[in-house]
Amino acid sequence: MKAAWDLGINTIDTANVYSNGESERLISKFLKKYNIPRHQTVIATKCYSVVANDPSIQSFTVPGIGDLPEYVNQSGLSRAAIFNAVDASLARLETPYIDLLQIHRFDPANEYSLVYREEEREMMAYCKYNGIGVIPWSPLAAGFLARPVGTETIRLNSIKGTPREKKLIGGDTTIVNRVEELAQKKNCKMSQISLAWAAAKVTSPIVGVNSIQRLRESIITGIELTAEEMVYLEEPYEPKVVRGHL
Ligand SMILES: NC(=O)c1ccc[n+]([C@@H]2O[C@H](COP(=O)([O-])OP(=O)(O)OC[C@H]3O[C@@H](n4cnc5c(N)ncnc54)[C@H](OP(=O)(O)O)[C@@H]3O)[C@@H](O)[C@H]2O)c1
Repeated sequence: MKAAWDLGINTIDTANVYSNGESERLISKFLKKYNIPRHQTVIATKCYSVVANDPSIQSFTVPGIGDLPEYVNQSGLSRAAIFNAVDASLARLETPYIDLLQIHRFDPANEYSLVYREEEREMMAYCKYNGIGVIPWSPLAAGFLARPVGTETIRLNSIKGTPREKKLIGGDTTIVNRVEELAQKKNCKMSQISLAWAAAKVTSPIVGVNSIQRLRESIITGIELTAEEMVYLEEPYEPKVVRGHL
């Protein structure tokens, strides 16, 4: 986070449910440690899901958790639930205000990448027409669009067999191959080609970065795709079953 701040990034996206509140606590610690004035930052968080008391529980994997007595009014989008979620986030973030409170489902924060473009059908068209910004997640398809086909990673292996598992299907393999081909042609990283494509389509993709080097690589100023290259990347896409709307 310090590296991001030093590079001029002042916006931090989190959610109440990320690591059951630990992500929001870390942001507060970060701002304090480096004496960063709160008003110079933009903090976006989210509400909707249960923040489990037990750190080892991921609430989205426990059907009906929101109906348990200890979690009454702790999930969903009722007035009481939103007020409770905001109070809890403010306490963890140790801030008097949240800049952007996002509804964690049923809103324009969607999955979107070269290999998952279902939101183009209705949501993105609606948002464009109404001037609503779109900040989608997983622009690298959890890493698939950042590495040659067949590369095994700890992350992809760790989500195998879970509801979050991602697979390349239909024309996806061809798309990833084309990303690799364009990266070689332009002498840049595959992730940068995939992000350049996403950045041309939406307000700002939310990239999952986990090292300072990757953070730097994800700032893709100067990498642009021609109209022909955009079409070349898009052309093999085949429709998919809609996912992510829990
Ligand atoms: N609103 C929601 O419901 C929702 C859902 C999911 C995510 N999100 C948000 O969106 C963020 C991004 O999601 P995501 O992590 O799935 O995004 P992503 O950008 O599609 O995938 C990130 C993965 O790509 C790989 N990667 C990233 N930069 C790379 C680079 N320069 N070179 C090679 N590989 C690279 C890494 O894989 P390895 O770790 O395997 O190396 C990393 O874990 C999350 O952190 C979260 O804040 C929101």
